Amino acid sequence: MTTFLLNDSIINTDAHPGTTLLDFIRYRQVLPGTKIGCREGDCGACTVLEGRMDEEKLHYRSIVSCLTPLGNAHGKHIVTVEGINMDACSPVQQAMVDQNGTQCGFCTPGFIMSLTGHTMAYEPSEEKSAIDSVNGNICRCTGYKSIERAAISISKMLKDKNPKDPLNWLIQHHFLPSYFKEIPERLSKIKNHQNANTEVQQIIGGGTDLMVQKPDAVAESSLNLFFDRSDLKEIRRENDQIMIGSAATANDIMHSEILNNLFSDLKKHYKLISSDPIRNMGTLAGNIVNASPIADLSIFFLALGANLLLDKDGKERELPLKDFFLGYKQMNLKKGEYIKSVFFPLPVEPLGFNFEKVSKRTHLDIASVNSAAYVKTEQNTITECRLAVGGVSPVPLFLMESSAFLIGKKLNADTLREAVNVLNNEIAPISDVRGSKEYKRLLARQLFFAHFIELFPDHFSLQELLR
Ligand SMILES: Cc1cc2nc3c(=O)[nH]c(=O)nc-3n(C[C@H](O)[C@H](O)[C@H](O)COP(=O)(O)OP(=O)(O)OC[C@H]3O[C@@H](n4cnc5c(N)ncnc54)[C@H](O)[C@@H]3O)c2cc1C
Ligand code: FES
Ligand code: FES
Repeated sequence: MTTFLLNDSIINTDAHPGTTLLDFIRYRQVLPGTKIGCREGDCGACTVLEGRMDEEKLHYRSIVSCLTPLGNAHGKHIVTVEGINMDACSPVQQAMVDQNGTQCGFCTPGFIMSLTGHTMAYEPSEEKSAIDSVNGNICRCTGYKSIERAAISISKMLKDKNPKDPLNWLIQHHFLPSYFKEIPERLSKIKNHQNANTEVQQIIGGGTDLMVQKPDAVAESSLNLFFDRSDLKEIRRENDQIMIGSAATANDIMHSEILNNLFSDLKKHYKLISSDPIRNMGTLAGNIVNASPIADLSIFFLALGANLLLDKDGKERELPLKDFFLGYKQMNLKKGEYIKSVFFPLPVEPLGFNFEKVSKRTHLDIASVNSAAYVKTEQNTITECRLAVGGVSPVPLFLMESSAFLIGKKLNADTLREAVNVLNNEIAPISDVRGSKEYKRLLARQLFFAHFIELFPDHFSLQELLR
């Protein structure tokens, strides 16, 4: 049984937990404000808000309902555009009207939900963050300038918002209906999910890969819902290691205080990954086990020298992430085994880590080629080096030979140019929709140079490296 609040109503349903939340909302609850566009997480027409209690506070975030398995709604408050309607337009809705942010209106509920989600954050609004909040929404007719103007005007209206207690402020200022006040108490009455299945087969995290690849199979399988398992969510420092629970999402990682203290460019790097709603849903283990050759998180953690903690019936084993990928979509993962956590050695100061990604669009696109590098130097000699590159082999590739080649070498342009020869022998790109094999080879070299230019700006320029 899945129990949750949908707008102002309590839902108790025995519908299959693998049904999409979108279909449940539209067809079983007959709430047609949430639109069906791509059903692949790309367009944002189906965006809703997911509210959940965390450390006694009610947090809302945007998600795409087309990829959310219904079971992941358990214990939450799901808000559709109908759930924020009041007698008059809310200031968010009115801003879209005033700025001519809507034409055919098909995308509009999705934009409204993303912008409303932005108003609910426990932090002050900035114009840029207001605009960023719609990075998962596509509009075919209006053009984005009017929607950006609406976002900016909403941000201005929030200047007096109390970031410590945003929901009360929003209710008082008619951004939200008053029933939001009772949500924490109503959620506290919902009991934790009991996994009814004893014979559980299919693990599912956020569903952002599985629900795209095999939605019909998910809707029929017995599911093991990992997304809300609190024992798999934590991010913590353990002595000289960082441990990340396998169900931590890309946005949990992006906004983690511990990780931001270590990686000053973390937010810049993670902005290159999908969109806000997808980062709110996609988990670290999901990214690794999906084993796409261009998986951004896999590439990121390969360069950090990450290890996996795997568990089967309480029996644990550790495995370097670089040994997990055996071939295209083949992994060193036994039947019934799952990833419990991912951990990596605390990087040494000063941090020599960089992540790069090239895709056809800057945002909400998967990579043609992506790459990460961890480089340490002492007295102009490379003492540690871990390089990873995606999109140039059947797996997210740890560049074993190129990394080993660089260790002990002087940090200069000749070394890097020689390393490119090693790199070229280590990769085997193929031509596909994301680019020809020659283009990807070129990108792998450029990103390799980009790491060193970024990490050692006083040493290198692209002109010099290409000479
Ligand atoms: C619109 C869109 C944009 C995207 N953009 C990007 C992008 O820019 N970069 C990128 O890298 N990816 C991108 N993705 C892919 C996806 O979001 C990520 O790979 C995400 O991290 C998958 O996590 P999930 O929890 O949603 O996986 P799910 O779909 O829930 O699961 C994926 C696989 O992992 C398995 N699994 C999940 N958790 C565990 C566990 N703990 N142990 C063992 N197996 C487990 C599942 O059984 C399944 O086989 C995008 C996807 C969409 C829909
Ligand atoms: S329908 Fe396009 S993102 Fe859900
Ligand atoms: S108003 Fe028509 S798609 Fe956005």
